[in-house]
Amino acid sequence: MELREAINARFSYRGSYAQQPVPRAHLREIMEAGLAAPSGCNKQTVSLIGVDDAELLQKLLSVMKPATCPTVTAMICVLTKRRIAYTDGNGVERCFAVQDYAAAIENMLLTITSLGYASCWIEGHITDADEQGKQMAQMLGVPEEYDLICVLPVGVPLDAQKRVWKREFEKRAWFNGFQTEA
Ligand SMILES: Cc1cc2nc3c(=O)[nH]c(=O)nc-3n(C[C@H](O)[C@H](O)[C@H](O)COP(=O)(O)O)c2cc1C
Repeated sequence: MELREAINARFSYRGSYAQQPVPRAHLREIMEAGLAAPSGCNKQTVSLIGVDDAELLQKLLSVMKPATCPTVTAMICVLTKRRIAYTDGNGVERCFAVQDYAAAIENMLLTITSLGYASCWIEGHITDADEQGKQMAQMLGVPEEYDLICVLPVGVPLDAQKRVWKREFEKRAWFNGFQTEA
């Protein structure tokens, strides 16, 4: 699938997945795309754990509430490590870890789509008060200095899903200056 096609075909899938394994080579290709993303000052704050072991996957999925992808057969866990990129003129430490993982995740979502799989950026409940990410990180033996901030299910979608509506180009993007609506 061409890049442009993948960009337009990607959407957040929350339906059922086919009960077939995702080849390790595909998972690796997706993870490599994530690690190829830019990162602030090339600090490479993102690390990834691919999960294709059925028993481990079930343990991780049991933590996830609401269950966004209970039938998926593979998943990529996104880890971030806070690394200071630089200290600015006011002595403020700049860290671009959030931007870094957002870039990595989008690269992976596009690669997932281009390989014919579906996924969804699942971060909300992973990082909020119920700390599902912490529980999952423990199951995966992740060291303290890393945070598990997002999971990406990877699998063949079984259900048709409606794409969400996006505001028109003209209402969100302009050339040569901001344009207020008439
Ligand atoms: C930072 C971020 C966090 C998200 N967290 C979740 C989540 O926890 N659960 C979920 O179902 N979708 C989550 N999403 C997916 C968004 O809901 C989705 O991208 C948005 O509704 C637009 O739909 P689309 O991805 O189909 O274009 C998240 C997306 C982003 C960028």
